[in-house]
Amino acid sequence: MHQFTLNIANISEMQQFGVKIASLIRVGDVIALNGNLGAGKTTFAQSIIAALGYQHDISSPSYSIVHYYEPPELRLPLAHADFYRLNDAMEIEELGIFDMLNDGAAIIEWAGDYVEHNMAQYIEINIEKIDDSENDLSQNDNDVSPRKLKINLGSDWVNRWT
Ligand SMILES: Nc1ncnc2c1ncn2[C@@H]1O[C@H](COP(=O)(O)OP(=O)(O)OP(=O)(O)O)[C@@H](O)[C@H]1O
Ligand SMILES: [Mg+2]
Repeated sequence: MHQFTLNIANISEMQQFGVKIASLIRVGDVIALNGNLGAGKTTFAQSIIAALGYQHDISSPSYSIVHYYEPPELRLPLAHADFYRLNDAMEIEELGIFDMLNDGAAIIEWAGDYVEHNMAQYIEINIEKIDDSENDLSQNDNDVSPRKLKINLGSDWVNRWT
């Protein structure tokens, strides 16, 4: 597992990084997004999904737990999940989230320990606000607040990273 840190200056840099991740995504990938409430997990997932070709609004899966996307709107089948409200691991099976890795990929907010960390096709992006002003909503309104990304790449992601 290869780890490194990436500093993001503003929301558009975050979206550019989403474009890079989208260009590298392959069938079988699990993209785990961790970080506090409001860190930017959904915003980042939206930039990946848009870069995969989806041209409509991308809503947060925080209530339904998972949204599925299919070609031709995206270049590959994708689950966008949020495990914050998940009750137990059984629910992951019931929702079929990992079944789709046979022919697609999954982006999972609040992945935590529900996701196997040692998979070759695993990438974890941990998003942190750089300052401690967690309650300063004005920064979010400006969409300019910096983030620190702590990234863990599984071996397959290491090979395709440039
Ligand atoms: N650099 C940045 N990267 C991502 N989001 C940013 C950035 N700067 C400002 N924001 C703003 O921060 C907010 C992040 O909210 P978002 O819903 O993406 O967080 P989240 O991590 O998914 O939260 P939750 O845990 O509730 O699902 C958005 O309003 C977004 O516009
Ligand atoms: Mg979210």
